[in-house]
Amino acid sequence: MNRIITFTFNPAIDKSTTIDHLVPEKKLACSPPVFEPGGGGINVSRAIRNLGDHSTAVYLSGGYSGRFFSSLIEKERLDAINVTISGATRENLVVMDVATGQQYRFGMPGPTVSEKEWQPCLEIINKCAADDYLVISGSLPPGMPPEVMGEISTIVKKRKAKLVVDIAGDALACALKTGVYLMKPNLSELGSLIGNAHITEPDVYQAARQIITRGQSTAVVVSLGGAGCIMVTKDEQVMIPAPLVKAISTVGAGDSMLAGIVLKLFKGAGFLSAVRYGIACGTAATLHPGTALCHIDDVERLFQQVLNNASVTMATW
Ligand SMILES: Nc1ncnc2c1ncn2[C@@H]1O[C@H](COP(=O)(O)OP(=O)(O)OP(=O)(O)O)[C@@H](O)[C@H]1O
Ligand SMILES: [Mg+2]
Repeated sequence: MNRIITFTFNPAIDKSTTIDHLVPEKKLACSPPVFEPGGGGINVSRAIRNLGDHSTAVYLSGGYSGRFFSSLIEKERLDAINVTISGATRENLVVMDVATGQQYRFGMPGPTVSEKEWQPCLEIINKCAADDYLVISGSLPPGMPPEVMGEISTIVKKRKAKLVVDIAGDALACALKTGVYLMKPNLSELGSLIGNAHITEPDVYQAARQIITRGQSTAVVVSLGGAGCIMVTKDEQVMIPAPLVKAISTVGAGDSMLAGIVLKLFKGAGFLSAVRYGIACGTAATLHPGTALCHIDDVERLFQQVLNNASVTMATW
């Protein structure tokens, strides 16, 4: 049976709390913290679980905090494979300032990993089946060079599986050299890839078409926050607006969107239908506070709205 396998090379314990008012130099009383396992791939697996399905989450973690991280994964009841490292898993801090309603997100660097520690992930990839979906999302930890993404892409091609990436910078550039099945950058990530800090909509179509023509990705989905996304394949170029909602927290919107897209593709949907569902999942994630991912009841309601909204299709290119 085919599988969706997510990979999180630099996971984090997401610790969220609130304070009445953020001021410097004073002791600040925080509310009891909430701990969640985070990192791109883990979030994609959690969102797929929220959508009523399952995937396997492969993650690197270790040290005292790694043990805690794995206990959080157990509570989530995810099918997971922990590739153990010696460094301690990082902990990120999200603080909501109740007085202003503003959220502060502190991200720590991950532990340095050695080649011997990340190699088992490549061995797992090397055992995947044809048509499995492999999802790589999030940053690479120190010690894991971006060129690893080129190696991964080569292995996935050889196995005839499908590589989906939500990564940025040199790691994305390296993955594209060999080619991927689907990439989901946001606007600024695509801008950095093509060296254009002031990227506009027409630039997105042009860049995506170039990526596809060069055989670097079968589909390009560029998420545009509240505006929705642009999807380009060899046959289509479409702008899909997101439903208009009162967004409470956009944390996890990108991961929820990716989960929806991958799950629908895995179940045999075409790109347009899968990306429309992904838009509903991304928007659903914005309806809940903090780090909450999409809930299936919101997704189903919003998906109907996405289907009713006309997608803006440009002439085929
Ligand atoms: N304010 C919003 N209103 C409605 N939908 C939203 C909003 N923000 C995000 N979304 C939905 O979530 C999707 C992904 O959002 P976005 O482009 O912000 O991803 P991202 O930058 O990758 O996010 P992340 O910070 O999770 O990595 C959008 O395409 C849209 O469907
Ligand atoms: Mg993102």
